[in-house]
Amino acid sequence: MRISIFGLGYVGTVSLACLARDGHHVIGVDIDASKLAMMRDGCSPIIEIGMRELVAEVVASGRVEVTDDVAAAVHGSELSFVCVGTPARPNGSQDLRALEGLGVQLGQALATKPAPHVIVVRSTVLPGTVDGVFAPLVETHSGRRCGDGFDICFQPEFLREGTSIRDYDAPPLTVIGAESDRPVRQLRELFGKLPCAFVVCGVRTAEMLKYDRCSRRDGSRVHGHATQHFHCISPAGLRVRRVLPAEGLARPVARRCSARRGRPGSRRRPRE
Ligand SMILES: NC(=O)c1ccc[n+]([C@@H]2O[C@H](COP(=O)([O-])OP(=O)(O)OC[C@H]3O[C@@H](n4cnc5c(N)ncnc54)[C@H](O)[C@@H]3O)[C@@H](O)[C@H]2O)c1
Repeated sequence: MRISIFGLGYVGTVSLACLARDGHHVIGVDIDASKLAMMRDGCSPIIEIGMRELVAEVVASGRVEVTDDVAAAVHGSELSFVCVGTPARPNGSQDLRALEGLGVQLGQALATKPAPHVIVVRSTVLPGTVDGVFAPLVETHSGRRCGDGFDICFQPEFLREGTSIRDYDAPPLTVIGAESDRPVRQLRELFGKLPCAFVVCGVRTAEMLKYDRCSRRDGSRVHGHATQHFHCISPAGLRVRRVLPAEGLARPVARRCSARRGRPGSRRRPRE
């Protein structure tokens, strides 16, 4: 498959190297000229076990290109991974400037691409960001709606620095948040053979799953998570019980959360 990867930071570089290792042709895109130059020379822009050797090998194979030309990368690939940074601001909100800027550029590139294209957002975002922020920018600047020649989906990344190649090859699960078939087909082709469950759900559910794992990694307890789900999912228009079972959390926890959505003090489970 011909794949473009936007953002050659930690996630983008690991994805680029592993996809090229697996035989795909990969175009790496970044706004940082020094990262492009390193990659062109066969050097890894990140420090990670095994990455120096892997980048040298895949660049030598001829399956890796790099560019800062967004339109050329979109036109030269059928699927794009978005791996730009989404750092936290001091007030706890996310800095989405890189994601928003890229949404504009991808939209402009798609405006002149007749062939079908799939955009896979891999950056970590709060639930609702893909549908509420990123997709509208792509639609506005392409002059087309999602589903009309391009699709946008969300695939959370579960890499951990230090073990990223191993995590890429054996993730805890593969989650595809998509509202149409084309992205699921293509991502199943890329990741369907990995030794883990392949979960297909809605975009917002997938965003929530990633958000949950981040907060759990930060030390929250299961019940704390369930409470977060209760608070966070409702504004995003999701149902608690669609997220928790996918993560393997205990059924009673999901039931307790559902119950809390009913009248205060009520023991009756509300309808979903
Ligand atoms: N680092 C991790 O362990 C990890 C794990 C899972 C998920 N994530 C998430 O993945 C995303 C990327 O993380 P990272 O650590 O790789 O970030 P990073 O900051 O290391 O890299 C982001 C890259 O994107 C580039 N960039 C910015 N705007 C661009 C544009 N318009 N076009 C092309 N490139 C652009 C930057 O120059 C930079 O090289 C974040 O949302 C992060 O939360 C990170």
